Amino acid sequence: MLYREMGKTKEKVSILGFGCMRLPTKGNNVQIDVEKASNLLDFALNQGINYLDTAYPYHGTSTSCGGNSEVFLGEYLAESSRREKIYLATKLPTWLLENDEDMDNYLTQQLKRLQTDYIDFYLLHSLKEKQWFHMEDIGVFEFLDDAVADGRIKYTGFSSHDETEFIKEVVDSYNWDMCLVQYNYLDENIQAGKEGLQYAAEKNLGVAIMEPLKGGVLANNVPPEVQKIWDESPIQRKPAEWALRYLWNNPEISVVLSGMNTMKHLQENLNTAKDATPNSMTIEENEIMEKVKKVFHTKIAVECSACGYCMPCISGINIPRCFSYLNQAEMLEDHSEVRNQYHFMLKETEMAGNCLECGLCEELCSQHIPIREKLKEVAHKMGN
Ligand SMILES: NC(=O)c1ccc[n+]([C@@H]2O[C@H](COP(=O)([O-])OP(=O)(O)OC[C@H]3O[C@@H](n4cnc5c(N)ncnc54)[C@H](OP(=O)(O)O)[C@@H]3O)[C@@H](O)[C@H]2O)c1
Repeated sequence: MLYREMGKTKEKVSILGFGCMRLPTKGNNVQIDVEKASNLLDFALNQGINYLDTAYPYHGTSTSCGGNSEVFLGEYLAESSRREKIYLATKLPTWLLENDEDMDNYLTQQLKRLQTDYIDFYLLHSLKEKQWFHMEDIGVFEFLDDAVADGRIKYTGFSSHDETEFIKEVVDSYNWDMCLVQYNYLDENIQAGKEGLQYAAEKNLGVAIMEPLKGGVLANNVPPEVQKIWDESPIQRKPAEWALRYLWNNPEISVVLSGMNTMKHLQENLNTAKDATPNSMTIEENEIMEKVKKVFHTKIAVECSACGYCMPCISGINIPRCFSYLNQAEMLEDHSEVRNQYHFMLKETEMAGNCLECGLCEELCSQHIPIREKLKEVAHKMGN
């Protein structure tokens, strides 16, 4: 296993981290298969993984209640006496917070669920621009300062699926130690994007990556044209290996989290992590990745440059974001992950289904996009 420094903390984290959002379950996504999950963690930790990522709602019945991931991890770490040997990351459910006391209450609950006195990396979970002001209003920075001072948290961070400019604003708002952003070879210009993660790294934040395989679709669902490029390549690798190596090639990235729920996937990813040093991809390998990205990008449905000239829409639709989700969906064989994110990230009023077809946006569009027609496509594909 290779290790990299987690930004300013200088802690040496394994480049492959274990994402505990997708632990093996018994039939549904709630009841964790304790035996299988424990075996995976035993193997992962024995092979040098030292970073475990969980969150309050993982493996729960809804995002408003505590799930089983933290509880399972608490039991596992206590029984195996491994708590001190790993970095434990969990997250404050920001969407459930009403006042300052809530933050303290959730942290207290989480420490109990995880059977520990401290969290190594405590992240504000899934920050969104639409609730960020509320977080500041209820005193989130004072809460973090206090929890660090009394030792319940070692390091602070945040995760977000929001856009680059917002990520940069959050990075500049507090003395964070790290951040967790979605990134993979298709997301260079989506969400935090390359610009966002480089910005965070320049400010000395450790950068952790979520959804490195876009939830599995970059490993299991690549279009045949992409598979052909890889089949013809002189370097033979599985799609997951290409995707992970692309990430670890970036020196700004400290740890890549993957949700590995089978021993096969865990072993494969561990194997890839053995020699994935920064800037190690050859010119030839980079050319192959460029070809692959190009194929994905030919599948783009709307040539929207997100200039924002069309905004504000009188119905409140977030037109550029709607098109970004449509493009992501078009690139993939399986739309379900993108559809989930669309519903998770956008307010009801921002969705394409609200279009009144007034056409004002089309008069302003710098790319001459038939916006009304394309919004119908979005609404159809995303289910609103
Ligand atoms: N803070 C947040 O908002 C947030 C959001 C998302 C994730 N996260 C964290 O980030 C972690 C990583 O994200 P993720 O779970 O989406 O990671 P991911 O690696 O993009 O996706 C995991 C899925 O990829 C597939 N996979 C993994 N290794 C593979 C391999 N070698 N070959 C083929 N398929 C492979 C599996 O899919 P199948 O099961 O379909 O085979 C697995 O379930 C999560 O577990 C969670 O801890 C945080």
